[in-house]
This record gives sequence, structure tokens and C-alpha cells, in this order.
Amino acid sequence: MNLADLQSTAAADLAAVAAPEALEAFRIKYLGTKGLLKDASDHLRTLPPDQKRAFGQQLNTIKTQITTAFEERKAALATAEPVVKGIDVTEPGRLSFERYEPGTPHIISQTIDDLTALFARMGFAVAYGPELEDEFHNFDALNIPITHPARDPNDNYYLARPPGAPLFMLRSQTSSVQIRTMETQKPPIRIVAPGRVYRPDTVDQTHLFMFHQLEGLVIDTHITMVDLRSCIDQFAKAYFGPDVQTRFRPSFFPFTEPSAEFDVLFHLADGATRWMELGGCGMVDPNVLKMVNLDPEVYSGYAFGFGIERIAMRKHRIEDIRLLVENDLRFLRQF
Ligand code: DAH
Repeated sequence: MNLADLQSTAAADLAAVAAPEALEAFRIKYLGTKGLLKDASDHLRTLPPDQKRAFGQQLNTIKTQITTAFEERKAALATAEPVVKGIDVTEPGRLSFERYEPGTPHIISQTIDDLTALFARMGFAVAYGPELEDEFHNFDALNIPITHPARDPNDNYYLARPPGAPLFMLRSQTSSVQIRTMETQKPPIRIVAPGRVYRPDTVDQTHLFMFHQLEGLVIDTHITMVDLRSCIDQFAKAYFGPDVQTRFRPSFFPFTEPSAEFDVLFHLADGATRWMELGGCGMVDPNVLKMVNLDPEVYSGYAFGFGIERIAMRKHRIEDIRLLVENDLRFLRQF
């Protein structure tokens, strides 16, 4: 039996030990009661007396060396980092709170919420209508003649239909909700209707092919243009601040008479100012009242329709409407 070989294989085995299980296997193999050092002791007993002394001394030396090396390795393993085996799914995640930031409603949703809350304080309920609308509610009932340019197929998203079937479209204005409200509710009526509208416009700094409008409708006895004017002035001051500059311009819409357009002064980032049209308004045309079986001799009312994107742009000084639909987090996080 060669004790020098035994010592070098033990040293090599121990160097390869990286885990407690392997260390225990090493102990059993070399230091155990049936281990290789025990074999060597047994061998010692079988030797003739003249060889016993030298073998015995060498055996003691390597026994001490192996035992010492084993104890050192054991101590080193005890202080080492535990070896990761698989994933403990019960552990709390380390990154979860950094990675998931709380979100906020989109700036357009926030604007709609703010506007409906503001008009609620002025006594307005909220009404909704379908985005897929028929020709009657989008045009006919609003006194828009069949030849009117607003009906041009190039300016509307009409749905294909079999000959003779009713014509449907993506609504081009929330004014359709005026009709739907008057069809189902008796005056006094006092509603605002926020929602999406669709027009095939070329996208640029001030145009999208889908945008939002806030429609307003008030119907009662003895409603006059003074009520309209004061309502819109109050809204503008409450929403944009008491110093906001506004103006009404005479205009024409088939569903109002008289009609006006309403502008607010927009302060641009470079210090310049420009008038921005928020939308139209006016006194509900008697023909519209008749379409929904309301007597124009008894009832009168006013209506308005404003662009919600434009309201948000004026409020937050956003100069490009496309920012509102690009979903760039650097933009959205500012609101
Ligand atoms: N529907 C019009 C548009 O989309 C805006 C409008 C004008 C709405 C006058 C109204 C109104 O209610 O009275 O251009």
C-alpha cells in the first residue's frame, strides 16, 4: 500500500469539495470507520516488525494532514454563501416595488372627469350616445340638409351597406346625443355629453381623425342667449382661471339659430398668443325641437360643442395634439 498516493488523492478529492454533501462523502471515504485510513491501519498490523515503525510513522503524519485539511475545508464551507439551487417562489421579489409605478388616468380621461365634475356643479347631468350612429341622429334630426357639405363621403366614416338599408357611420359630432336625449327625456333638460367623434382628417399639429367633444344641451321654458353666454363664461373662468380671455364670434350651424363660435386666447411657449377655437354654440333651432316633438312656442334652449383635446391643450399649454395619442411615457408622466 502506497501512503504517498493515498495522501495526494485525498488532497485532490478535498480540493474538489464545494458543498457540505461532498464534504461528508469525503469524510466517510477517508476518515470513516470503514474508510481508507482505517484500511491503512489494518494493513499496518499485517506488516513484519521491521517495516511497522516506518509505515506507522508515515501513516500518523498523513492522518494528521488529512484530518487538519478536512477541518479547514469544513470551516470554510460553513462561512461561505449558500449555493442557490432553483428559485424559492415564496421569497418576496426584490425589484417589484421599483418596477411597478402606480399609473394615472390619461390626460384626456382626466380632462373629461374635470369637465363633467365642473358642469355637475353648474347643474348638468352626464349623457352618452353610441359612437356607431345612424344618419338620422347625426344629420337629419339636426336640421342638416341632404345636400350639406358636412355629409360628404370624403368627410365621414360611413359604413358599407346593401342598397336600401339604413346608413350607419362613426358619428362625426356629439350633437347626435342632443337628439337622443330629447327623444327620451322631457324638459327641463340640462346635460353634457362627452365622447369620441370621427372625421377622416389628415393628422397634423391640430388634427386627429378621432377626437373628443363635450356637447352641452339645456332645454326649458324662457331660456335665452344670455343664459348661454353666461354659462360658457362661467365655465371658462372656472376651468382656465379668472383671467382667461375669451371671445364669441357670429357663425352658422344648421341646428342653432343664432350661432356663435367660442375662442380662448392660447399663450404659446415662445411668449406669443393666438386665438384658439374651442367649438360652436347657439340657440337650438326651432326645426330641431320640432323633430323631437317639442313645441318651439313653449320651449327654447341652447347647445354647445367643444373640442376636449383643445381644452386640454389650452389648459396645459400643449402645442401638438399628436402628443395626446402617442403614449410617450415622458409626456404622460407629466399629468
Ligand atoms: N357639432 C358641431 C361640430 O362638430 C359643434 C357644435 C356647434 C355643437 C354648435 C353644438 C352647437 O351643440 O350648438 O362642429
